Amino acid sequence: MWFKPWKKDKVESLDQVAMDRLPRHIAIIMDGNGRWAQKRALPRSMGHRAGVETLRKIVKTCSKLEIQVLTVYAFSTENWKRPKDEVGVLMTLLAEYLRKELKELHQNNVVIRTMGKTKDLPLEAQRELAHAMKSTRDNTGLILNLALNYGGRSEIIDAVKSLSKEAVSGTLRIEDIDELRFSETLFTRGLPDPDLLIRTSGEMRLSNFLLWQLAYTEIVVVEELWPDFGEKALIAAIVAYQKRDRRFGGIHTN
Ligand code: IPE
Ligand code: IPE
Ligand code: MG
Repeated sequence: MWFKPWKKDKVESLDQVAMDRLPRHIAIIMDGNGRWAQKRALPRSMGHRAGVETLRKIVKTCSKLEIQVLTVYAFSTENWKRPKDEVGVLMTLLAEYLRKELKELHQNNVVIRTMGKTKDLPLEAQRELAHAMKSTRDNTGLILNLALNYGGRSEIIDAVKSLSKEAVSGTLRIEDIDELRFSETLFTRGLPDPDLLIRTSGEMRLSNFLLWQLAYTEIVVVEELWPDFGEKALIAAIVAYQKRDRRFGGIHTN
C-alpha cells in the first residue's frame, strides 16, 4: 500500500521512549476544550478549566523528561472573535493558573516565557505574567513558552517591519538579512524550532501557529480532546515522532 495511515501504538510506559532522541522543542495546539464540555452538557468555561488541569500535567511530564522547550498555543489573535464572556474566562484562567502554579513551576525549575502581543491582554493577566517571568528568569529547566494573543502572520509582518526600519536607518544591510537574522527577529528568538507539533481534537490545520518555525517540524494530530490528553498520550506522540525519518529535504546515502 503506498499510503499507510498513522496507527497509534499502544504505549504503556516511558520505557518505550528513546531518551537520547527526545524532541528538544515540543509545540502543542491545545484544542477541543469546547467540544469536551459540550459532550458533557457543560458550559464551555468548564472545558477550559479542565484544559488548564491538562496543561499542568503535561508541563510536569515535559519537565520530568527534561524537554528543553514546551510552547503551548493558549490564545490566538483570532480568538478575540469569540463571545466576550468566553474571552474573559480564558484571561481569568490564565491569571489564576499563573498565581496558583507559580510556586510549583518554580520548584520544578521551569522558566516562563511568552510569545504574542501580550500588551493587549487584560492588565491583571499582564501583571501575573510579568511576575511569573521575573521570578523564574534564572531557572535552568524546561522553558514553558505561552503563546498568548499570538498569530504567525502578524509575527512575520512585525519582523519584516522591524528589519525594514533598521535597513532604512542604515544599521542593517539588505544583504545581511538571512534566515538566521529573520529567526532572531521573531518571538522565538534564541529557541530551537519545534521538533514535534501536537494538535489535539483531530483538526488538520495550523490555525496561524508558528508559521515560520514549523517549516520542518514533525506533526502528530491526535483525536483526544485537550482535557482528555494526558501523560500516556504525550508519550505516544513522542514515540510516534521517534519513528519518523527526518530528511530535511535530503536523502540517505548509506
Ligand atoms: C481550545 O479549545 C482552547 C482555545 C482555543 C483557547 P477550543 O475552545 O477551541 O475548543 P473547541 O475547538 O471549540 O472544541
Ligand atoms: C487554535 O484553536 C488556537 C488555540 C488552541 C489557542 P482554535 O480552536 O482557535 O482554531 P480553529 O478556529 O479551529 O482553527
Ligand atoms: Mg478549537
